Amino acid sequence: MLELCNISKRYKTKEALNDISLTLDNGIYGLLGPNGAGKSTLMNIITGNLEPSNGIVKWDEKEIKKLGANYRSLLGYAPQQQGMYDSFSGIRFLSYMATLKGISRKEVEEEINRVLNYVNMTNVAHQKIGTYSGGMKQRILIAQAILGNPKIVILDEPTAGLDPKERVRIRERISKLSKEKIILVSTHVVSDIESIAKKIILIKKGKIIDEDSVEKLCQKYNVSNLEDVYMKIFGDE
Ligand SMILES: Nc1ncnc2c1ncn2[C@@H]1O[C@H](COP(=O)(O)OP(=O)(O)O)[C@@H](O)[C@H]1O
Ligand SMILES: [Mg+2]
Repeated sequence: MLELCNISKRYKTKEALNDISLTLDNGIYGLLGPNGAGKSTLMNIITGNLEPSNGIVKWDEKEIKKLGANYRSLLGYAPQQQGMYDSFSGIRFLSYMATLKGISRKEVEEEINRVLNYVNMTNVAHQKIGTYSGGMKQRILIAQAILGNPKIVILDEPTAGLDPKERVRIRERISKLSKEKIILVSTHVVSDIESIAKKIILIKKGKIIDEDSVEKLCQKYNVSNLEDVYMKIFGDE
């Protein structure tokens, strides 16, 4: 179980997160909010890449800072920005990431084949990432995030910049990830997560506005779909 306890984050004078507490267990969570809401900041804190100004993150009741590498080995993370590895082939990128993750030499080949197959990219594995479409780049990022079968998978706007067909493909891949993992997916597009997330976490200006299933949220806001909940909460932005 992953617990965020009273997390706040300030960048100099900008308050990006304000007293966020959340508990995540197995299943898919959608972190939904407009640009600037604090999604990437929150994800960077969960992955231990960024220190909160206040509060702590706990994994099974132990502070992640104290768990160190033991915690990092449980994590798979696909960051929002891409384009850093354009000169690598898909397979070389995955080998490199597998090495960084400490996956043993014995297992590397099988593991790379598994994740390539998962994102349907076996046939383009030897092409350079720079030649990939936006959707293929996102899929290879997801592939590296699930190398080593991590218990916690953090995907920061995996559908950003994609066309509708590619969005559906990414959504399907995410929905088929194991139910035995904590999966957190950020987006500002309702349809990316509406049908696949067991809970939607609504984040606005660094605060959690609500956290519930789509059905419960619709009841609470007295509307028929998540798009309308979104408009009620973020319509003024
Ligand atoms: N390194 C930084 N320095 C200063 N402000 C930042 C930095 N990173 C993010 N911010 C600000 O913090 C807020 C939250 O940003 P971010 O977490 O990237 O939101 P999101 O991912 O939801 O778009 C925004 O107002 C953003 O401008
Ligand atoms: Mg972001």
